[in-house]
Amino acid sequence: MSMMLDNVITTPKLIDQFGRTVDYIRLSITDRCDFRCVYCMSEDMMFLPRNEVLSLEECARLVKTFVGLGVSKVRITGGEPLVRKNALWLFEEVGQLEGLNELVLTTNGSQLESQASALKKAGVKRINISIDSLKPERFKKITRTGNLEQVLAGLQASIHAGFEGIKLNTVLMRGSNDDEAADLVQFAIDQKIDISFIEEMPLGEVDHTRESTFVSNTDTLKLLQSKYTLLPSTETTGGPARYWRVAQNNGESATKIGFISPHSHNFCESCNRVRITCKGELYLCLGQEDKVDLMPLLRQNPNDDAPLIAAIIGSMAIKPKGHDFDLRRAEPAVVRFMSHTGG
Ligand code: 5AD
Ligand code: SF4
Repeated sequence: MSMMLDNVITTPKLIDQFGRTVDYIRLSITDRCDFRCVYCMSEDMMFLPRNEVLSLEECARLVKTFVGLGVSKVRITGGEPLVRKNALWLFEEVGQLEGLNELVLTTNGSQLESQASALKKAGVKRINISIDSLKPERFKKITRTGNLEQVLAGLQASIHAGFEGIKLNTVLMRGSNDDEAADLVQFAIDQKIDISFIEEMPLGEVDHTRESTFVSNTDTLKLLQSKYTLLPSTETTGGPARYWRVAQNNGESATKIGFISPHSHNFCESCNRVRITCKGELYLCLGQEDKVDLMPLLRQNPNDDAPLIAAIIGSMAIKPKGHDFDLRRAEPAVVRFMSHTGG
C-alpha cells in the first residue's frame, strides 16, 4: 500500500539561504575554565556572572528544540564543560533524545579521570581532548594552570571507558610547541587515537599578537609527510578540517590526522553548523558577528517553545556565506572568546 504524501511526518529542517542544511550544533555550557591557555584567554580573564549564563535546564531545552528541528549532532564545549556543576545531568538528558545520533564533547581533560565512564554511559560517543605539549613544564606554561599528568590520567580513563573515538586537539605556536608536532602524532599512534592540529584563530584579546605565533598547517603537514606516509582521506565533517591517515608497515595504524585550517575559505560552502554561547547567543558563523539572542525567548516563554522555534528557523536567513579572518589585523577579527562560543 502506498502512503499518501501529506500523511508522511517529516522532521523539519534548518536550511539557510545558500541551501546548506544545519544539522550540527556546538553549545558552550560555561565560559569558565580551570586552565588559562595562552591562545584562548588573557592571564586575568573575567568570567560572566552566573545569571547571565544559561541554566543547565535551559541548555537541555535548547538542545531538545534543535533536535526537534532536525539537528542530529551536538557538541558540548566550554570553557571547560566538565567544571560546570552537575554537567553530567545535561549529558544524561541530551543522551536520551530521540533523533540525536551523535553526542560529543570537547574538553581539556582535567576532569576525565573521574567522569569518563559516566559520560560514556550517558551516551557520549566521541571526545576531543586538548593537549598542546607532552612536556610537563611546557604544558604548564601554555595552559598556565594545567597539570599534564592529570590530563594524561584522564585520557587513560577515557581509553578505558571505550568511547567510539578519542581525538587530541593541538594548537601549535611558533617558538613555543611547534617542535612537538611529530612527537604528538607518535603519541596518538601509540595510544591508537586521532589527532587534529588547529590553527590559532584571532578570537578575543590575548597577551600576544596572533601573527607572532602563527604556525600554518601547510608547514605542519609537510613536516609530518617527511616522517610518515600519509594517505589522504575523503572524510569530512562539514567543517574546516582535512584528514589524513597514517600508513604503517603492518597496515594497522588507523590514526587519523586532522588539519583544522580556519583561515582557508574552501570549507564554508559545506558548513553544517551553528554555535550557541553559554549566554544563549546563537552565532551563525564562528568568524562573523551575526547572532540571535535566545536567552530572552527561553526566559520569557517558559512553557511555550513556539517563539524559540520561530527565532531559530528565522536565523537561517542571516547565516553568512563565509568568515573573514585576517591575522594581520590589529584588533581581533571576532571580539568574543572561544571560551564563550565554544570551539
Ligand atoms: N585558536 C585556535 N584554537 C583555539 N582553541 C581555543 N582558543 C583557540 C584559538 N584562539 C582550541 C582549544 C581546544 C579547541 C576547542 O579550540 O585548544 O582544543
Ligand atoms: Fe580552557 Fe580550553 Fe581555553 Fe584552554 S583552550 S583555557 S582548556 S577553554
